Amino acid sequence: MSHVRPSTSMRAATYPPGYPDGWYRLAASSDLGPGEVQYRECLGRELIVYRSADGSTVHAMSAFCPHLGANLAGGCVKGKRIECPFHQWQLCEDGKVGHIPYADKLPTRARQETWPVRERYGQIFMWYSGGDRVASANDVPAYEIPDIPEVDDGRFVFRGRHDANTVHMHLIEFAENSVDFAHFAPVHGKMFVPWTAITVPGIAVEHVADWEPDPEHSHLAYFKNRAVLHAFGRVLERTRASAMITFIGPGSVVTFRFTIPDMGEIVMFQTHLPLSPMEQKVDFHWFADKSMPRLLVSYVIGNWVSQWANDIDIWENKIYLDKPILAKGDGPIHRMRRWYSQFYP
Ligand code: FES
Ligand SMILES: [Fe+2]
Repeated sequence: MSHVRPSTSMRAATYPPGYPDGWYRLAASSDLGPGEVQYRECLGRELIVYRSADGSTVHAMSAFCPHLGANLAGGCVKGKRIECPFHQWQLCEDGKVGHIPYADKLPTRARQETWPVRERYGQIFMWYSGGDRVASANDVPAYEIPDIPEVDDGRFVFRGRHDANTVHMHLIEFAENSVDFAHFAPVHGKMFVPWTAITVPGIAVEHVADWEPDPEHSHLAYFKNRAVLHAFGRVLERTRASAMITFIGPGSVVTFRFTIPDMGEIVMFQTHLPLSPMEQKVDFHWFADKSMPRLLVSYVIGNWVSQWANDIDIWENKIYLDKPILAKGDGPIHRMRRWYSQFYP
């Protein structure tokens, strides 16, 4: 690719809006201790995420104080409230003004925007729903983040995380990638040394994929990928492995279940947080059967991350075609797009 790149604004104009409804990962639980506050710009908002003083709850609130606009990220957590550093107004976790040190009468109409937050699998997620109305922590999300029983009951243990660089792509591209069957051979047909862009000579990867929405839970879709390695033209049967990939919403939270015959299972989360419509913060974190050797787990995850990275140069330079010209052999791109449109109610 030459160093002359298509402009982001031109590319952005070809895509659907940048922030479909869904759960978005804001931070790792371990990065936010009791009473800690962090500032974020994402999803077209400026917000703070903070943990209550006793550590039990996490809250997301728009960042600038309704009084005179100070940044609440510089404030101090009091119980479940945040106290502004400027004139020490306190805002409750539902966004209402709870206390003004120098006034008895509180402004009752004022309410800061807040969002529903959940903490699952050691991660902090926020429910974002578009539109013009002011979100509230008391909103009822369209669905919850599903349980992963093996993670919840401790059979799978946390085995690592990887914070990728920001990728200059639209969120829908990640979903579209899974139904774009014709790109697997040209873009993902080579074997890489895990965690690197170094190809392994003589080794080819064959992929067989399918994609289906969940018949009962419309916000879920499943992408199954079975892969096997070929060495100098011969199929290596022992390398057969399968991945079950679940889209929980619009690609903001995606789980991967890798099954390695005779060894066990790995569950990986890949999350996308749009910092702007064409900028995704991408994070990976994973859990595995306790008995699985750590090196094998790292090998499997590293394989995936290397293959994922191979799409980036395409994603960062492409536009979105509303009416693509398709051929036999292309995957169910239109079906996926119809499924995806539910996240833009
Ligand atoms: S700006 Fe926050 S209390 Fe005045
Ligand atoms: Fe891809």
